Amino acid sequence: MEREAKEILKSIHSHNKAFGGHFIEITAGTGKGKTAMLLSTASYNLEHFPDERTFFSECFDTPIQVLKLGIDVVHILIPEKNKDDITFRDRDKALKLVPHDFFNVSYYKDFQDLYERAVPGKINVPFFIDRRDVMEFIAHLRSIGTFNTFLIDEMSEIATSMGHNMYRRNENFAFTCKDLRKCLCNVWYTAQNTSQVDWRVRSAIDIKIFGPASKADKHSRITQKAIDNLVVNKKTGNEYWISDGGVFGLFRLGDVYEPKEGLNIEAHCRAIPTN
Ligand SMILES: Nc1ncnc2c1ncn2[C@@H]1O[C@H](COP(=O)(O)OP(=O)(O)O)[C@@H](O)[C@H]1O
Ligand SMILES: [Mg+2]
Repeated sequence: MEREAKEILKSIHSHNKAFGGHFIEITAGTGKGKTAMLLSTASYNLEHFPDERTFFSECFDTPIQVLKLGIDVVHILIPEKNKDDITFRDRDKALKLVPHDFFNVSYYKDFQDLYERAVPGKINVPFFIDRRDVMEFIAHLRSIGTFNTFLIDEMSEIATSMGHNMYRRNENFAFTCKDLRKCLCNVWYTAQNTSQVDWRVRSAIDIKIFGPASKADKHSRITQKAIDNLVVNKKTGNEYWISDGGVFGLFRLGDVYEPKEGLNIEAHCRAIPTN
C-alpha cells in the first residue's frame, strides 16, 4: 500500500476526536467490491472499536450484505409500528418467509430509541419504511458526542438526485454531512453512478475512493487512465485509489467476501413510501 493511502485510511480509522468524522464516497462498477469495502470497515470496527455503534443501511429486495460476515454479528432493528411491513425471504428456498426471530432483532419506537437499542460491538442494521429516513436519523444523532459509524450501501436510493420532493430533504442532509467532522461520525457510502446522488450531498464529501470501472472526477487529481489501470483480482483483492483533496494513493482490499451458505436472505418492505 502506498504511504499516502495508508495515511488517509489511518485518519479515517483512528476515530480520533481531534480529527473528527469523515464523509467518504466509494464508487466502482458493478461487482467491483464497493459493498466489500463497507463490510471490511464494519469488521474493522467490530475488532478495534467494540464499544462504538456501527450502523449498516441495507437495500430492500436484494440479499442482505452484512450476512456475509455471519449472522452472529448482525443486529436487525425494525420500526415497532410497521412490524408487519418488513419481511425477510430466503432466496435459496423459493423466497420462503423467514421469521424476524431467525435474527437477533429489536423493535424501535423512534430515532432516539433506535440509537439506544443499537448494540455496540455488533453491526446494527436499521430498517425504515422509507429507506431515505436514514438521512434524518443521521441528523438526529449529530449531538451524541461519541464516535459512530454509518455505512450506507447504494446512496442513490437515499439522497437520490431523481426523486420527487427530495429537494429540501437532500439539502438538509447536505448540511448534516458538512457537519460530520465536528460531530464525530464517519459516514461511508457506495454509489455506482455518482450522477444519481444529489450534488449538494456530494459537495460535502471529504474523501473519495475510486475502484475499477469508476469515472474520474474533475475535483480530484486521479485521472481516468490511472483508474483504468487498477488491478482486478477476485483472489488477492482489487486495487482502489483513495483521495483526500490533493493527497492520493493506491491500496488493495485483501478482504474478499462471498455469500454465506444458508444466509441468502432478502429484506422486503410492503408499505410504499409516500414522498
Ligand atoms: N476486495 C475484493 N476484491 C476483489 N473481489 C472482491 C472483493 N470483495 C468481494 N469481491 C468479489 O466480488 C463480488 C462482488 O463484490 P461486492 O462487494 O458485492 O461488489 P459491488 O458492491 O461493487 O457490486 C463478491 O461476491 C466477491 O466475489
Ligand atoms: Mg454492492
